[in-house]
Amino acid sequence: MNAAAAAVVFTDRKDYGGERWFPDDRWMPPSGVQVGSVYTGAGDPTTPGWPSTEGCERVSEEEVEVPLIPSLPVSWADGDAIMRSIGGPVADEDWQGGKDAGVYRLGPGPGVLNLNYQGEQVITKIENVIGIIHGAEEPDRYVILGNHRDAWTFGAADPNSGTACMLEVARRMWKLQKKGWKPRRTILFCNWDAEEYGLIGSVEWVEENRQMLESRAVAYLNVDVAVAGAGFETSATPQLDELLVQSAKQVMDPDNSSQTIYDSWTSSTGGGAKVGRRGGAGSDYSAFVQHIGVSAADIAIGGDYPVYHSMYGDFVWMSKFGDPMFRRHAAVASIWGLVVLRLADDVILPFNYFSYAHELQIAEELKGQVLHKGLTVVPMIKSIDEFKKAAIQINDEIKALEGSWTSMWKDGQKVREVKERLMMAERAFTDREGLKGRSWYKHLIYAPAKHNDYGSTSFPGIYDEIEKAKSANSTESWRAVQHEIWRVARVCGCIVPLR
Ligand SMILES: *[C@@H]1O[C@H](CO)[C@@H](O)[C@H](O)[C@H]1NC(C)=O
Repeated sequence: MNAAAAAVVFTDRKDYGGERWFPDDRWMPPSGVQVGSVYTGAGDPTTPGWPSTEGCERVSEEEVEVPLIPSLPVSWADGDAIMRSIGGPVADEDWQGGKDAGVYRLGPGPGVLNLNYQGEQVITKIENVIGIIHGAEEPDRYVILGNHRDAWTFGAADPNSGTACMLEVARRMWKLQKKGWKPRRTILFCNWDAEEYGLIGSVEWVEENRQMLESRAVAYLNVDVAVAGAGFETSATPQLDELLVQSAKQVMDPDNSSQTIYDSWTSSTGGGAKVGRRGGAGSDYSAFVQHIGVSAADIAIGGDYPVYHSMYGDFVWMSKFGDPMFRRHAAVASIWGLVVLRLADDVILPFNYFSYAHELQIAEELKGQVLHKGLTVVPMIKSIDEFKKAAIQINDEIKALEGSWTSMWKDGQKVREVKERLMMAERAFTDREGLKGRSWYKHLIYAPAKHNDYGSTSFPGIYDEIEKAKSANSTESWRAVQHEIWRVARVCGCIVPLR
């Protein structure tokens, strides 16, 4: 049997390098190395599913699920030299490098690589820092901001731009407090540790506080890389779409003072505010959405950037290329703060589940993939219809309540009940057993794509089984797809909280 002795990873210059590079330009030098984690689990691998605390149970070294193939990131310059020593068939076009690269071939050999790897296995202490502003009227409802603090090398963008924004939001809220403001609900500022090692700080905290969060968390608002260039980007669970749009209309575009962020956002996407979805495991919202079903959003200005996870992502890079005037940082702090203020202070939570219903319509796309196998998506379509009706119904109830504020106060119980339904509806998408083969992921609508941790899938359980069925192509494998369709139908139909 052939076995991989090691994996050598490089970031191709085709993707990350321009003609000029840091410190003359924003691009990665050919000698630059992008580092990262190849561990794809969630949280501390010695405590799968439970919190990692001092003296707690840990699985043995043999049972720990971590990659066993040593891997090493190298620069494009080194990677290209290695590639030039490899013969064999020429790799597909989409695997080839840029114009300066040699021809990439598949090997094996004749080049031989001598890789020395010295691992260090230690259990060490990490520290999350949590700040609290207690809510005046609903202290047991939590609006949670989160950002991580640990960085690969300097981390000016990832995560320090986000940490700077969180400190700015905290500073502005402190100013409001000095003027007498008290939030209606409790606001938590969470500064996570060890995100780069596998979301460890946030995952362990969520596991430790699971019951409390399931019953009290309103929403989780994440900022990781706050700024890495121009252009607003956000992703969220769909009931937050409308709030994000409203907040983006209230903040001026840091790159054009004659329009709002909303204006530049919609013109860059060519019409419509495009909100991504929260399926990837690329940052600390993962445990909140995918493990316990808390609605969440992530915001940033500037997406992918060439010096990501390298030693060139320092303050000089940020102040020359990422955000020369630091106005983009201020804009992220403004949107983040506005979103949190609405969630913390609006009497009725600013959630609109109608966009969720709309999002679920992608179920229609499934039809084409499974109909010819004699499968049916009708149960799913039916329960999504039910979901849509419930979303419309609760929106109507909210309108009626807002039209009669005085009687609303008389009917405080009704208001409480509507708020409760809005908060809890997201939990209904989680399933106790979780996804097949990766049971930590409880959310049946959003999860990381199985083979791309940064990528996101909707209906991951169904698509995992479709992939398997396509290669197995047996009756049982297609029945497994049908089972997953039923499971999604059941969670979408489980709209009791929303109704
Ligand atoms: C700035 O915004 C205004 C108003 O939307 C627009 O007309 C103008 O083209 C923008 N300028 C740039 C440089 O994008």
